[in-house]
Amino acid sequence: MPDAVVIAVDGPAASGKGTISKLLAQHFKLQHLDTGLLYRAVGLAMLQSGGDLDDPSACEAVAKKLDLTALDPDVLAQHHVGEAASKVAVHPPLRAALLEAQRSFANVEPGAVLDGRDIGTVVCPGAQAKLFITASLEARAKRRHAQAVQKDPSASLEAISADLAKRDARDAGRSNAPLAQANDALLLDTTNLGIDAAFEAARAFVASKLHA
Ligand code: CDP
Ligand code: CDP
Repeated sequence: MPDAVVIAVDGPAASGKGTISKLLAQHFKLQHLDTGLLYRAVGLAMLQSGGDLDDPSACEAVAKKLDLTALDPDVLAQHHVGEAASKVAVHPPLRAALLEAQRSFANVEPGAVLDGRDIGTVVCPGAQAKLFITASLEARAKRRHAQAVQKDPSASLEAISADLAKRDARDAGRSNAPLAQANDALLLDTTNLGIDAAFEAARAFVASKLHA
């Protein structure tokens, strides 16, 4: 039996990695895990319990008893939850607690697409295909703003842009499993690419890796 196929997709917030991952999973008939949801779930639980986001053992304890069945995607997608996620994500014991669940998911047959920050570098370094999706801060802020105004017409582009920049700096600057491009990942800059063109570039690269 060949190893399960694993496709690792990393990149900063709103680069398009989730959309591309979903489309890759559909196309190659694989499962998809948005690993950011795990970190968001811990961040949300900490906010709800009034816990200290800077306390590594409190965050680790929450991660160990995470109930992923009871999560509301709309709540998890909220901006302050992403911010809390990136604060708790700096703690090594919390990251270690989430590692096994991600690796087990990556072992499902016939395979999986995982997207996050450290999939190609730490979670699945042996992935058959790795992509690092990026886009300018301006393009990413405009995308998130377009999503935000659907719920809150007064959402500010400047505030979203500043928050994305801060979160990216925290994610790329932490010492444990930072946001980083794996050496063998394809860099895909989607600043000037629509979803169809970005997906086609990703699909062609993955196909070349899987059929090599
Ligand atoms: O998962 P990630 O935060 O990297 O981004 P996403 O949720 O896939 O994409 C954020 C938003 O940008 C979505 O509304 C996408 O439809 C949009 N997008 C885009 O306009 N152009 C792309 N090339 C990729 C995504
Ligand atoms: O969708 P978006 O790119 O805005 O964020 P996300 O993928 O839901 O991730 C939320 C936060 O979780 C990130 O800012 C990271 O701090 C953290 N995260 C991580 O550290 N490692 C991962 N594999 C995935 C997310």
